Amino acid sequence: MRTHRCGDIRLEHAGETVTVCGWVDGRREHSQHLAFIDLRDYAGIVQVVVDGNHDLRSEYVARITGTVAARLDGTANANLPTGEIEIRDCTVEVLSTAEAPPFPMDERTDVDETIRLRHRYVDLRKKRMQKNLRTRAVVNSAIRSAMEEQGFVEVETPMLIASTPEGARDFVVPSRQKPGNFYALPQSPQIFKQLCMVGGIDRYYQIARCMRDEDLRADRQFEFMQLDMEASFVTQEDVFGFISHAIAGATEAVTGERPTEIPRITWDDAMERFGSDKPDTRFGMELVNLTDLFAETEFNAFKADRVMGIRMPGGAEFSRSKLDDLTDMVKRWGGKGLVWMKVEAAEGEQGGLTLNSPVAKFCSEAELAGIAERLEAEEGDVLFLVADRKRRTQHLLGLLRIELGRPPVTEGGFNYLWVVDFPLFEDINDDGKPVPAHHPFTMPHPDDIEVLETAEGEALLDVRSQAYDLVLNGWELGSGSVRIHRSDVQSRIFDILGIGAEEAQLKFGFLLDAFKYGAPPHAGFAFGIDRVTALLAGEENIREVIAFPKTQSGADPLTKAPTPIDTSHLTELGLQVLPEEEDFS
Ligand code: AMO
Ligand code: AMP
Repeated sequence: MRTHRCGDIRLEHAGETVTVCGWVDGRREHSQHLAFIDLRDYAGIVQVVVDGNHDLRSEYVARITGTVAARLDGTANANLPTGEIEIRDCTVEVLSTAEAPPFPMDERTDVDETIRLRHRYVDLRKKRMQKNLRTRAVVNSAIRSAMEEQGFVEVETPMLIASTPEGARDFVVPSRQKPGNFYALPQSPQIFKQLCMVGGIDRYYQIARCMRDEDLRADRQFEFMQLDMEASFVTQEDVFGFISHAIAGATEAVTGERPTEIPRITWDDAMERFGSDKPDTRFGMELVNLTDLFAETEFNAFKADRVMGIRMPGGAEFSRSKLDDLTDMVKRWGGKGLVWMKVEAAEGEQGGLTLNSPVAKFCSEAELAGIAERLEAEEGDVLFLVADRKRRTQHLLGLLRIELGRPPVTEGGFNYLWVVDFPLFEDINDDGKPVPAHHPFTMPHPDDIEVLETAEGEALLDVRSQAYDLVLNGWELGSGSVRIHRSDVQSRIFDILGIGAEEAQLKFGFLLDAFKYGAPPHAGFAFGIDRVTALLAGEENIREVIAFPKTQSGADPLTKAPTPIDTSHLTELGLQVLPEEEDFS
């Protein structure tokens, strides 16, 4: 239907007869007889000069044939790639009329997200969404090439399965043929990819859809995509190589620059220096341990397992109310309080620095001098100190560091980082059982297997695993581990986790059985494609790189999902919906 894309026409086409198709982006009347129409397709916008009598309104779809001509002197538009030309002497065919668009089509107007999603098909016409979805396609394609170059085979795994333990709630699908029974939608292909290894696939990959019923956030949707991989007869090192190659390929395909070797940090160092297992290394403000300075302190708040601090350059300008807000924030995060100290020039002859803080009077001279020295305080800084249990101190200051220092998503480049030697367990639950930090198929660190056999309670938290994460600019991009491939070790881990033999047999019996038939050592990884695409596209929210996402509350304003279903449909499934519980509060 067309000879060119709107956005592709240039001065070199002058004199040619062209046919373009697209949406009317805007219209300006030139005179009684002539109108300027901006016609838009995915490649861009071109100006066409048409007879003023044509009924061409915003978002009408038209096919226009005319002659390319240079614009008159002084009327070129330097902001448009097609700005030097226009199409004249046009014949116009209206292919489709359009109601007035539900929101202004210019890129600058902020439109309520629900309205955007309700009319996503119109929203997708915008340059930003066009760019983002095309970036996503580039990422997918680069990942496929990189995995195939490395000998990985794409295997599709089922969507209707029994539960996979990734730590979120399952979405379930009722079975019509077996009323009262349910399939779960996969939280990831985890168990199937391990079964593929037992099946001799050797190198598996899949761009896999995963589904998790969890609270949605900027980096979380119910359904999302992973580059999922697993390989046999490999070490953790090999996995880093495979994934680095894929991520470098995707980054280069989008940005034109191939990242250099991805640095590594142990989980313990990450917690110690950044207070996070997903450090944003685009900026400094690292945590500093001050505990030993307060071994004999008189200040009650600092008689704690841990005292740590961070330095905010220029923060001495913060107002009292800003500092109070930060203190409240730390308390909301679970802290007992926050000490701030403004670094000011000392009065008097000697010069030097003084720490101005409401709690300075509770600290000794030596303590204050120690704080200033350790934190490398400079005039104009504000120092923040927190005292608490070790992990909580790290966590609170880690959050504060991000709150105060995190650059916008489009600044600071792409800081990939491997976080290695994750602990095997992240916590001890109320029943005294450890909670797996990754999933229960993760191999303990070889040096810690003995400890694992004897350790109990809190001591279990020191057991390391062969699990690793990939982080980009403070976002967890992906996780993986070396897996347990022996049913005896796996049973032992289930045992420690408090999953009894019976429960293990019921939930994962098929996996334990599979391991009895000859399982190769294997390891794998998965990273979130929505997340990596969002960051590469310069977006703060993964919804901006998903064609049809759900809102924060999990609804789809376009199709209205989730919706009730017919009673007859329910009956067929052997289901009955309980009346909504009344709210007596
Ligand atoms: P994990 O559960 O860490 O590991 O998930 C891997 C990556 O998937 C992405 N991701 C999400 N993206 C968007 N919305 C969500 N709700 C969401 N949940 C997770 C993240 C995350 O890092 N089977 C293991 C991997 C393995 O061990 O091989 C797994 O799924 O980027
Ligand atoms: P308090 O002794 O509770 O009145 O607290 C005195 C000051 O110390 C307040 O500014 C608190 O915010 C702060 N503070 C109290 N406990 C802690 C703590 N564990 N870590 C850091 N600051 C604290």
